[in-house]
Amino acid sequence: MISEIPMHTRHRIHFSDSRHMEAVPDESIELVVTSPPYPMIEMWDPVFAVQDPAVGAALKNGRPAAAFEGMHRILDSVWKEAFRVLKSGGVACINIGDAVRTLNGDFDLYPNHSRILSGLQHLGFTLLPCILWRKQTNAPTKFMGSGMLPPGAHVTLEHEYILIARKGPLRKFKTDAEKQRRRESAFFWEERNVWFSDIWMDLKGTSQDLSDKNVRDRSGAFPFELAYRLIAMFSIKEDTVLDPFLGLGTTLSAAIPLARNSIGYEIDPGFKDAVRSRVHTLKSRGNRRTRERIQSHLDFVHTREQAGKPLKHRNVHYGFPVVSRQETALFLEEIVSIQESGTHCFEVTYAAGTTEEMRTTKAPAPIEAVESKPNRRPMQRTLFNE
Ligand SMILES: C[S@@+](CC[C@H](N)C(=O)[O-])C[C@H]1O[C@@H](n2cnc3c(N)ncnc32)[C@H](O)[C@@H]1O
Repeated sequence: MISEIPMHTRHRIHFSDSRHMEAVPDESIELVVTSPPYPMIEMWDPVFAVQDPAVGAALKNGRPAAAFEGMHRILDSVWKEAFRVLKSGGVACINIGDAVRTLNGDFDLYPNHSRILSGLQHLGFTLLPCILWRKQTNAPTKFMGSGMLPPGAHVTLEHEYILIARKGPLRKFKTDAEKQRRRESAFFWEERNVWFSDIWMDLKGTSQDLSDKNVRDRSGAFPFELAYRLIAMFSIKEDTVLDPFLGLGTTLSAAIPLARNSIGYEIDPGFKDAVRSRVHTLKSRGNRRTRERIQSHLDFVHTREQAGKPLKHRNVHYGFPVVSRQETALFLEEIVSIQESGTHCFEVTYAAGTTEEMRTTKAPAPIEAVESKPNRRPMQRTLFNE
């Protein structure tokens, strides 16, 4: 049963260095979702050089291998902190791309993803299968090297990695309340089939919700959908998600509609205003994503019914059919309000149960196998209008 007491989550940002996350206690975080500055990508050189002048000197003196290693040593300190604050069974998801660069006249690949994997393993993380996501570019310069003449042309780099690692053994859910939160945090069967495949071809570029293109360009922001999926895949409602390289706050923006708490660290105070104004647009953006998920599911149900393959189970909150028993308690929270509470801190309140706005007009065809009686009015099939 969904509680009649509204759920709340809390989101706090620290504008400081995530190599020292003293404000976060040991073993207090269920999930890390992040994207660090990319070593050996020119736009991030100054960010690394400020944190370790030896990196700047190595770049200046034509020692790329030393610069690469120095940049990763900075990131290693943050992964060490992530390991400290993660609970046993907690997961870290790190979005990273490799870099290619010509230094001293030599073109070279800098394999950031494999260097980070080694670092995580060294710290004691268990490595899990990773995801490749296609990051298409139409830039005319995307083909590198000797053009149409072999053998000096280079393959394009149009993908990035999401590295996934766990601290300790598989997470255990002990109390009834935890087990119920886990059941309500289920995703749809058809979402599982896309989200848990190892190549994501369908991620759109960075969210266009920022009016300030300069801020967007220098942020290295990842797509909202990337953070949203990872949070839905590897945490449950009311967990706390940490992003030690917050940038424009995409992780925080994705945690809010999924009813997770979040903590972000960002070294550059220049992002303060952009993060804040982004959070204030989240009520409508977050609820829109929730409605899109429900609508996509209803479309999926419709297609299956048209094909003569009706689904066997029924969701107890919305009344719509679902493929598996595991989806019968799935419940998506609706944001009611987002309020600032103190410096760089936001409190979010969610509706207790399904609301009129989340409902539709045409009931789905009844199905035979019903796990239990819906405790809410059934979800109905139509288009949501913003
Ligand atoms: C690739 S961006 C992250 C973008 C973010 N995922 C988003 O969607 O906006 C990396 C961020 O890490 C920040 N950063 C770099 N070193 C840091 C450190 N030691 N502590 C905290 N933030 C750091 C940079 O200022 C930059 O904003």
